[in-house]
Amino acid sequence: MNLGYHQSKTIELKASKKEDLLLALDLLKQGRLVALPTETVYGLAANGLSSSAIQKVFAAKNRPANNPLILHTDSILKAHKLLDFSQVSPLIEERFFKLAKSFWPGPLTIIAPKDSSIPKEATAGLKQAAVRIPNNSRTLKILSGLDFPLVMPSANLSTRPSPTCASHVLKTLAGRIDAVVDDGPCPVGIESTVVRIDKDIVEILRPGMFDKNQLEMCLEEKILSMQKIDDVAPSCPGQSQLHYSPDVFEVKLCSDESIDERWSCDDVIIARTRDFLAKERFLGPRPVNAITLLLNDDPARYGQQLYDALYRSENSPDKRLSILVPKDTSGFTAILDRIGRAAS
Ligand code: TXA
Ligand code: MG
Repeated sequence: MNLGYHQSKTIELKASKKEDLLLALDLLKQGRLVALPTETVYGLAANGLSSSAIQKVFAAKNRPANNPLILHTDSILKAHKLLDFSQVSPLIEERFFKLAKSFWPGPLTIIAPKDSSIPKEATAGLKQAAVRIPNNSRTLKILSGLDFPLVMPSANLSTRPSPTCASHVLKTLAGRIDAVVDDGPCPVGIESTVVRIDKDIVEILRPGMFDKNQLEMCLEEKILSMQKIDDVAPSCPGQSQLHYSPDVFEVKLCSDESIDERWSCDDVIIARTRDFLAKERFLGPRPVNAITLLLNDDPARYGQQLYDALYRSENSPDKRLSILVPKDTSGFTAILDRIGRAAS
């Protein structure tokens, strides 16, 4: 009896093993679903030119069909072929090359008019496609062995936090996907910056490690950063509020003042180390059973650790999480965006 892929066992592969990478490559050529490492988060890869493979991705993630996917490739030339600049001002293509040459491979996703070869399922019917070259040597190797791009949404069930290690992938997708390639923890830990370049003004739709200043310096023009989520038209469906949510009863965002009342409860507290220690000097130690997850003071390291902390918070018996929101916002834009959505 064919139970379909939903009931299949997820094969655990090692990125360091050549034969495992070949198996991953083979599965992808067969139109199957393989979670792959990237520098940002693990992605759920499938043939980006195959409507049926893409539909399996939506089903496995339980993702709304109106939320488009990012196409991943391993060269600027291949990425360029996924886009069609023939109907727009030459300025748009110039922007593409400037950004691609400066930031790829790396955590930047570029949105521009799509080529007709891309199936409508990948872009959820939109006329623009999102493309990116990820910076992970094993995944680049796989991409270089394929004659099609890979769609790779984050490899988690829709609305849950993105996975930054293979065990996070298995936590929500075991049995729903064919394989996962384990390459250890992702070094960036926050999803790519998403930037749309085909309008008069370039716009950041999702903040990430590359920030507005870096993109402006590269393009030598002013760009818009995503305003408060409520203010923007839903041009980037991933801006929907319910996102990145750990499986707990309650997530509270706490200021330096409002954390006081959670201090002696059994809540899990996630905090920047420096902020926590300053607080502890006033309030004394937390109860022995209370779980406290301390993240690095440096925003890059904090970002790398955040989703793992969200997944760990799910292990608490009380299932209540308080996040002490970092005070200093310099370098924290993308992190504050994700924390805000985890709590909504
Ligand atoms: O770092 C990343 O970008 C990871 C890794 C695996 O590459 N991928 C990722 O994919 O975060 P996903 O599907 O979880 O998020 C993609 C975001 C969504 O918010 C989606 O709505 C937006 O990009 N997006 C994709 N294509 C779009 C398009 N054509 N127009 C507007 N937004 C788009
Ligand atoms: Mg996602």
